[in-house]
Amino acid sequence: MDNVAAVLLSIVKWIFQLIPPTKGRIPEPGTLFQKLLSLRFGEDKLKKLEFLTEFYFHYGLFKFDSKIYIFNSKLAQQAIYKLEKGAEHYLENSPLKNTFLGSSQKSPETRRAIASLFRKTSIEERAVIMMGDIQEMCKKFRGEPNSIVNITEWTLRLALDIVGHVLLELDFHGLDKQQETMISSMTTILHRCYALNEVQPGSKEFSDASEQFDAITQRVLEEALSIDDVAFKGKRLVKSLHDACGFSEAKDNMKLFLMAGTETTASTIPVVMSLLVKYPEIQNELRQEAETLINALVADPTTRLPKTESVLSEVLRLYPIAPFISRQNYEPVTLGDVNLDQHADVIIFTWGIHRSSHFWDRAREFVPFRFLNSSKTSGNMYIPFGAGSRVCIGQHLAWLELRLAIAFLLYQFKFEHAQETPELNFVVDWAHAVVHPDKDMIFKISPTQNNPIKLP
Ligand code: HEM
Ligand SMILES: *[C@@H]1O[C@H](CO)[C@@H](O)[C@H](O)[C@H]1NC(C)=O
Ligand SMILES: *[C@@H]1O[C@H](CO)[C@@H](O)[C@H](O)[C@H]1NC(C)=O
Repeated sequence: MDNVAAVLLSIVKWIFQLIPPTKGRIPEPGTLFQKLLSLRFGEDKLKKLEFLTEFYFHYGLFKFDSKIYIFNSKLAQQAIYKLEKGAEHYLENSPLKNTFLGSSQKSPETRRAIASLFRKTSIEERAVIMMGDIQEMCKKFRGEPNSIVNITEWTLRLALDIVGHVLLELDFHGLDKQQETMISSMTTILHRCYALNEVQPGSKEFSDASEQFDAITQRVLEEALSIDDVAFKGKRLVKSLHDACGFSEAKDNMKLFLMAGTETTASTIPVVMSLLVKYPEIQNELRQEAETLINALVADPTTRLPKTESVLSEVLRLYPIAPFISRQNYEPVTLGDVNLDQHADVIIFTWGIHRSSHFWDRAREFVPFRFLNSSKTSGNMYIPFGAGSRVCIGQHLAWLELRLAIAFLLYQFKFEHAQETPELNFVVDWAHAVVHPDKDMIFKISPTQNNPIKLP
């Protein structure tokens, strides 16, 4: 049946392309079209939206489920800069409801208070701390029975320790598995509830997890505030946050750093590894790059790793972990020829923008070294971390963490397919606007013959 639907859909698409677009209109699939989409893609809303992005290409936007999806780069840019962030109503049950993630109002003081810590140079000053955490993880890998590693689990723990050490100057001991409750409550909320729908937001399991997560964050914050600042250079993030917005908001924003700072990078590394296991020759090329540059990288974390960085950029193009960003208009506004009335939910559809055949050559293919040749990518809208005043505050942290983790891992280990290795498929957490692989990534590893890495 989905084959028939596929054929029908391509016929409809072909006919539709002959009709010139009506200026200023926001097209929307009708009932019959929606039925066809469901026959073809089932419940997979991301695939439907991807199809609609190609279908309505000449409009640059469309409406679906009462939200407006924008993928034309000019319209998207206008939406990002003209409209305010506003996702609070998606976050109804989420622990992130009261953080500046969703809010358009609370952000300025809080963002200002913490901005300096997230700057590229401040993050790079802390690279050695990050390298230490990555090396801790690699040490644990060597102890795994049968050399089978659950990289999803380990990168989540790694990302938690990095957020703790680099941002909060706190020890979470995630890699030492002393943060079982923190990890399991986060996993219940973000994976099992929001992404996989295995747990309902109204259930006891969910509220238990939320309470646990709240209690731990509270404890950690209290502990952190009690530490004397004199021992540290400058003011610590927790103190700045607390002074800027008070205890309760500081606690909520700590939750935001814990969740946004761990989930995203922790999902990206397993995706990268999954592709490198699928394409071993690319893995070898990146390993050679790591072997050549590891000493330079340890000495200076800003050392470029052209191939590794290209692969990372390509992974975040093809599988943007944050597949869309949301904005809202609170009063009527015009984007291009289109007038939006009050209170439209606007989605800048990164996933569609990054995967559209109208913008990219071989759009749905993994082309690892695409980003080595800037003439092939310039001019295309590429927004894995968003853009504008609400651009991802953690982007420099994420980028450094990803570059270092991939280089260190490949320098020390070879990754291979194991019996337990799953296919790469994604589930969407619509409330927090992130995608995760639907299964934990498990690989077989073997150590390389390279000399041990010496950290300064
Ligand atoms: C691969 C990793 C990551 C990706 C792809 C990513 C992507 C994004 C995107 C697309 C946004 C929304 C931007 C917008 O609305 O215009 C965002 C916001 C945010 N991200 Fe990230 N992120 C990543 C890692 C991190 C890390 C490591 C942190 C560390 C704490 C972080 C903290 C945040 C915060 C706090 C916001 C909200 C900013 C605001 O609303 O003003 N992210 N991120
Ligand atoms: C991977 O680790 C997580 C976290 O400890 C665990 O819940 C999961 O069952 C593991 N996955 C597999 C397939 O072993
Ligand atoms: C980059 O891509 C362009 C266009 O495809 C091509 O003409 C050029 O030779 C490429 N440059 C390199 C260094 O590969």
